[in-house]
Amino acid sequence: MWLYLIAFLLALAIGYALRIYLRGRECKIRRDISNKTILITGGSKGIGQETIRQLANYNCTIIFGSRTKPTEFLNHLNKYYPQTTIKYIPLDLQNWKSIQQFVEQVNKEVKKIDILINNAAIMGTLTREFTSYGLEAQFGTNYFGPFYLTQQLLPLLKKSDSPRVINVASVAHTYEGLDFNDINCDKWANSIFWSRIYTYRAYGNTKLSLILNAQEFSKRTGIKACSLHPGVVRSEVLQYQLSSKWFDWLLKILWPFFAYFTKDCYYGCQTTLYCIMMSDNQLVDGGYYDNCELSKPKYTSKERAEQLWDFTLELIKKVEKEQR
Ligand SMILES: NC(=O)c1ccc[n+]([C@@H]2O[C@H](COP(=O)([O-])OP(=O)(O)OC[C@H]3O[C@@H](n4cnc5c(N)ncnc54)[C@H](OP(=O)(O)O)[C@@H]3O)[C@@H](O)[C@H]2O)c1
Ligand SMILES: *[C@@H]1O[C@H](CO)[C@@H](O)[C@H](O)[C@H]1NC(C)=O
Ligand SMILES: *[C@@H]1O[C@H](CO)[C@@H](O)[C@H](O)[C@H]1NC(C)=O
Repeated sequence: MWLYLIAFLLALAIGYALRIYLRGRECKIRRDISNKTILITGGSKGIGQETIRQLANYNCTIIFGSRTKPTEFLNHLNKYYPQTTIKYIPLDLQNWKSIQQFVEQVNKEVKKIDILINNAAIMGTLTREFTSYGLEAQFGTNYFGPFYLTQQLLPLLKKSDSPRVINVASVAHTYEGLDFNDINCDKWANSIFWSRIYTYRAYGNTKLSLILNAQEFSKRTGIKACSLHPGVVRSEVLQYQLSSKWFDWLLKILWPFFAYFTKDCYYGCQTTLYCIMMSDNQLVDGGYYDNCELSKPKYTSKERAEQLWDFTLELIKKVEKEQR
């Protein structure tokens, strides 16, 4: 009898310890960011929203952009954090004009940007979707749109004493098939075997691109950058999958297990906070962070980072011509 009880308590303790381990670390460092202006994409939900909620404690200026305006969230923060300035500006990274209008508005609101966080993204579109500028939707939303946005914001970043760019990437970058001759993943999408799951490979491409972008960033702009993996987080990033019936079912059945092994948004935003709170000396330029520590991404190289940057600049020229 005693033996059973001890075994049970032991299992409980181990289960709990494992859960603490799985949910990941908290950002333990703090600094005074009260004079900083922070711009974050996304923020209407998920990790981005939780990042803003945490930053609201620091009396800084926060600007965020997404397609939907989270009115309740905004009202709440403005009421309880009057020392922090929080502004929402509409932004659709799939729409060229919208990015330009966003930048125009940002220039009216602030004189500088100290920290830019490219957080917004979509994952695993179930059908083939394209942006207003003709790119595969994930590549446009997660990488190309943010690249263009960041370029447009460089003058404001350069007004800061110590600007920083943070790209929210993913461990999914290991599931990449980045091919400059097939940037929309047509080959995968049209293949009999891969057409169903090409979408995750397209997502992986965007996340690898964000990591490569951070590695190349300071060489091209003189501004420090880093990238990160937030962990597997119970945000709304699965919305596309949930719209398919079988996945909805699967998730319902497996939800307790899923919850046990994943992070909520509070833990999901800790590595982003870590990248914000590190001093300039601590931050490794071009570094890739995971679970509040420096980590090593896969499939990156100096050549690939350079190639991608040049490729993207060319693509911008092309799109600019078409969008005129
Ligand atoms: N959750 C995970 O397990 C996980 C794992 C690894 C990496 N990540 C990364 O973490 C970041 C945050 O994701 P999340 O999990 O918080 O996802 P989420 O809950 O789906 O939030 C995504 C955010 O991006 C915005 N967004 C999407 N499309 C946009 C567009 N066209 N223009 C402007 N904003 C757009 C959304 O706002 P609107 O819909 O209102 O536009 C939303 O605020 C993403 O970069 C994601 O790839 C997440
Ligand atoms: C923030 O700005 C104020 C006013 O310019 C200045 O007195 C203060 O030292 C600044 N704080 C930091 C941490 O730079
Ligand atoms: C924010 O401002 C409030 C009120 O002035 C102050 O009490 C608090 O300590 C400040 N917090 C930070 C992190 O600067």
